This record gives sequence, C-alpha cells and structure tokens, in this order.
Amino acid sequence: MSYVVTEACIRCKYTDCVAICPVDAFREGRSMLVIDPAVCIDCGVCEPECPAAAIAFDMDAAPLWRDLNQRMAAQWPAISEPRPAPPDADLFRGEADKFDRYFSEAAA
Ligand code: F3S
Repeated sequence: MSYVVTEACIRCKYTDCVAICPVDAFREGRSMLVIDPAVCIDCGVCEPECPAAAIAFDMDAAPLWRDLNQRMAAQWPAISEPRPAPPDADLFRGEADKFDRYFSEAAA
C-alpha cells in the first residue's frame, strides 16, 4: 500500500508534495505527478500539503488511480525538487473530468 496521486493533480502540479516527501517517491509526467508505490513509506505527510487535495491513501482511492500510479511510476522520471506550478494551474484547480480531457502518458 502507499499513497496515490489522483485526478485533481492534472494540470495543477503544485509540487508542494515533492518538497516534503522524505523518500523522493514522486514521478513526473507532463500532465501530473504520481507516487511510486515501491518507494512510498506510507508516512502521509504529503496528503495535507497538496493545495488541490489530489493525494489519497490508496485504499480510499479508486482502482484506476492505484493502477495508474503504479504503471506510470515505472515510466516517468523522479522529481525530487519542487518547481513553480504551471502559470494556469489555478484555472484547473477543482475542475471535473480532467483525466479524459487532459491526461497524457508523456513524461515531463
Ligand atoms: Fe499534484 Fe498536489 Fe503534488 S497538485 S504535484 S499532488 S502538491
């Protein structure tokens, strides 16, 4: 088990989570971040840090997000330093159905 990143991260990518993760478990795609379940130690410090409320414990998240975090973590590069969010991040905060509209399997 681990924490997972969910739909709310898409096009927001605030990276507050990266700043606080003690084990560098985050991986970066073009549209969102995921957590590598093989690295996450379930400490949970990232969950309250996300301004978009995008992080959930995996047993509380839909299977889609558990599977996607595991699959994309194997393909995307690690991110260990926070970065400025995209300039339009706040426009996408809280938007519904972002996965269908904006998700990309492309790496960052
Ligand atoms: Fe995404 Fe939230 Fe981290 S928007 S990059 S999970 S702080």
